Amino acid sequence: MAKKHDSRAVAARILKEVLGGHSLSEASARLLPQLEDPKDRGLAQELCYGVMRWHPQLEALTRQLLKKPLKPKDLDIQALLFIGLYQLLYLRVADHAAVHESAGAAERLGKRWAVGLVNGVLRAFQRQQEALLAKVDADPAVRYRMPAWLLQRIQQHWPQNWQETVEALNSRPPMSLRVNQQLGSRDDYLQKLAENGIGAQIIEATRSGIVLDQPLDVGSLPGFDDGLVSVQDGGAQLAAELLDPKPGELVLDACAAPGGKSGHLLELAQGLQLTALDVDGRRLLRVQENLERLGFSATLDEGDAAAPSGDWSAQAYDRILLDVPCSSTGVIRRHPDIKFLRREEDIAPLVELQRSILTAIWPLLKPGGRLLYATCSILPEENEQQVAAFLAAEESARECGIDAPWGEACALGRQIRPGDASMDGFYYACLEKRAK
Ligand SMILES: C[S@@+](CC[C@H](N)C(=O)[O-])C[C@H]1O[C@@H](n2cnc3c(N)ncnc32)[C@H](O)[C@@H]1O
Repeated sequence: MAKKHDSRAVAARILKEVLGGHSLSEASARLLPQLEDPKDRGLAQELCYGVMRWHPQLEALTRQLLKKPLKPKDLDIQALLFIGLYQLLYLRVADHAAVHESAGAAERLGKRWAVGLVNGVLRAFQRQQEALLAKVDADPAVRYRMPAWLLQRIQQHWPQNWQETVEALNSRPPMSLRVNQQLGSRDDYLQKLAENGIGAQIIEATRSGIVLDQPLDVGSLPGFDDGLVSVQDGGAQLAAELLDPKPGELVLDACAAPGGKSGHLLELAQGLQLTALDVDGRRLLRVQENLERLGFSATLDEGDAAAPSGDWSAQAYDRILLDVPCSSTGVIRRHPDIKFLRREEDIAPLVELQRSILTAIWPLLKPGGRLLYATCSILPEENEQQVAAFLAAEESARECGIDAPWGEACALGRQIRPGDASMDGFYYACLEKRAK
């Protein structure tokens, strides 16, 4: 009997959500459990991430192949077309299986009428593949699999190496770990990995980072449940290192969820009094889970960093981490749905939100204290331009330069180019409040 939940049908349901505006990680977390077999889940995940990585091209191809656009209620069928094309172009699935299984998934989605359509479109693609690819790839945004506005920004920002940057953003990300040095050294953990047959290298730019040769399930990582390691990109690990908390200090992580950097701050300094704040109460639960696994506790507060109120805003902090909401353009390789979901017109409101958070949080920093402004963006207006505008408006603030062997120095702060030393694209600026 045909299964109701096969990988392609579930992938189509997930992608329907993404095409409807939801995040891929959130839709995957909700719908992947429909598949019981880890192998089926693995295939569905591969299909979803692959489709979103190549979306600009797959979308252009279906536009050529469909006589008229599908209705909004049939985004799952649109997704099946992407899934079929993705397999034909990029996966080592036999062509006839890719076509047959993708068309069959329409029936499992309760849309028998679409079986013939998916079959017909995919067969038409096979017949005209070369000519169609040449036609759609004539558009640079399709050829480089990036939205046109973002491609243009990357070209402007890195005229010398924009192609490398685009390639890095289109690549599969490595899986990186952060070793909890309170429980053992990085070398000890590398040794443990080697004993378990897991190949890995240290991430030179970081004090605790390791990059695995191959991604794997966290369940296979020695000591994961006991908090020996966390999964975290190397670039993200530089945040807590740069904030450099000292034992016993009062620290505010003002945009904390899901808590990757909160956990790292607590690993770096014994007895830290950490307040982890986030506007999203559900995401704050993830902070709780992550800290529990590491055996740490912090004060968790749901609140708006742009409008401080309540207990967390009634004290002054030695250090503040401001990992603000941003365009996430530096982490597209990890979240390829950003290419589709993020629009150019989102940038100005994000810049305004960052400005209001930075302005509202600054008074909570003690004189002589340090604030690290962080984004996973590669756009200067969210980064050095944001910091420049703040410094121009706030007399008590001064930048302390980041002297580091990683990334590129900007007029203010430092930018990691995506893929640089296997890291995601992060931006950091370190600010200090003048002592009165
Ligand atoms: C880049 S993420 C933080 C990632 C986190 N620092 C980590 O390392 O796991 C940005 C966070 O800011 C939160 N956020 C957005 N607007 C906020 C606001 N006005 N006040 C507080 N948190 C906010 C989002 O809910 C999101 O969890």
